[in-house]
Amino acid sequence: MQQEYILVKKSTPLTGEVLLSGAKNAVLPIMASLLLTSGVSILKNVPRLTDVEFMVTLLQELGAKVVCNYDQNILIVDTTDVHKWQVSENLMKKMRASIVVLGPLLARFKSANLAMPGGDEIGLRPIDYHLKNFQKMGAIITQKDNLISLKADQLIAQRFVLDYPSVGATQNILMATVLISGVSHIVNAALEPEIIDLIAVLTKMGAQIEIESPATLKIIGVEKLVPIEYTVMNDRLEAGALLIAAAITGGDITIPNASCDNMELFLMKLKEMGHEIIYLQNGGVRLKATMTPKAVSFKTAPYPGIATDLQPLFMIAQIVSQGNSEIVETVFENRFLHVPYLRKMGAYIEASGHKAILTGVNELQGQDVEATDIRASCALVLAGLVAQGTTRVFGVPHWRRGYESLDNKLRALGAQLEILKN
Ligand code: UD1
Repeated sequence: MQQEYILVKKSTPLTGEVLLSGAKNAVLPIMASLLLTSGVSILKNVPRLTDVEFMVTLLQELGAKVVCNYDQNILIVDTTDVHKWQVSENLMKKMRASIVVLGPLLARFKSANLAMPGGDEIGLRPIDYHLKNFQKMGAIITQKDNLISLKADQLIAQRFVLDYPSVGATQNILMATVLISGVSHIVNAALEPEIIDLIAVLTKMGAQIEIESPATLKIIGVEKLVPIEYTVMNDRLEAGALLIAAAITGGDITIPNASCDNMELFLMKLKEMGHEIIYLQNGGVRLKATMTPKAVSFKTAPYPGIATDLQPLFMIAQIVSQGNSEIVETVFENRFLHVPYLRKMGAYIEASGHKAILTGVNELQGQDVEATDIRASCALVLAGLVAQGTTRVFGVPHWRRGYESLDNKLRALGAQLEILKN
């Protein structure tokens, strides 16, 4: 069978202006939230990704009618005839994020039947924080083999305290509580910008949600939510990828529709490396790379910490900078799977447990490498931009799950890469 790969050649400095697409991590829960309404909603700035296509199929399986206008990045979703609360195992396997329909289905039908999403390459990714809080709100949970069923006579407003500010658990519990009468709280909630986007969507639908200190969401239940028209936020992770691409190639790029507020710590670290960061008046950003970057150490953490999704990419910037650095991955337990491939390309990295210790090298060598998850696919493409010769990145389905047209965008800035079949 023919296999696709991304062919990347060593790059000259990337320069120019580039626009971001809509955020994958925002659009998927927002699509799920439409199950809380009955009627026609319009979503704009929807990126064309295979994960979005999976979520469209999932909504259709539940009875929604969906019109996809990917050329204009618009989805029209009619949830009037949603009548099912079972998601097939096949769809659950394809995309872990499908777990976020659990909260909306429980709110709408007081029932939900799903297959367990299981772990994936970056870690075990259990859903115990989701389940124990659904139980606390009154759901009876039964599990048989890989199937999980939730049923409640009535959902009860409560104070839900999360063990950890989990993005998925916060989204799921939030969507389950917005229609419960009374006042609920989610304490130790994740407050990622993508969650703030979901709160904006739910508020537009008529939900009453307040953010309280410390990291608490207060939800005053309403009886009904209405369909909406909404423009999804831009992808801060794509912004990260583009800024790193410019930094490692000695480039100068401008992203007018980025939001600097969403990535302050990351921008601060780029500055510490010696890169010039210019904050544009409208919120956008320009990066002018230094030719003598200094490696910096960083830790991933829930927002406003450095996103775990940027860790594999930001590692590339440290690998080709001067000096030693240390990267600590605190969010997922198995997120250094890209490291052996980077070593193969000539990087000097010692990784053990949650920690990687790096010593900067002058350049990498092009090799055949395999992406094991979405963000690793991007990291390996970035590595290819600073490697002598050509790099072939296999695992293209991961790339297509997470990036709408990042290959075209990088090419427009001067990179030489293309998706080919062997
Ligand atoms: C989401 C994002 C993912 C991002 C991650 C962290 C989507 C589709 N996915 O994933 O891209 O990398 O947030 O920002 O938006 N945990 C438990 N039990 C639970 C839930 C989580 O132990 O019930 C653990 C996880 O294993 C992990 C940590 O908590 O170690 C954080 O996970 P979480 O924030 O829930 O990540 P996801 O929602 O899966």
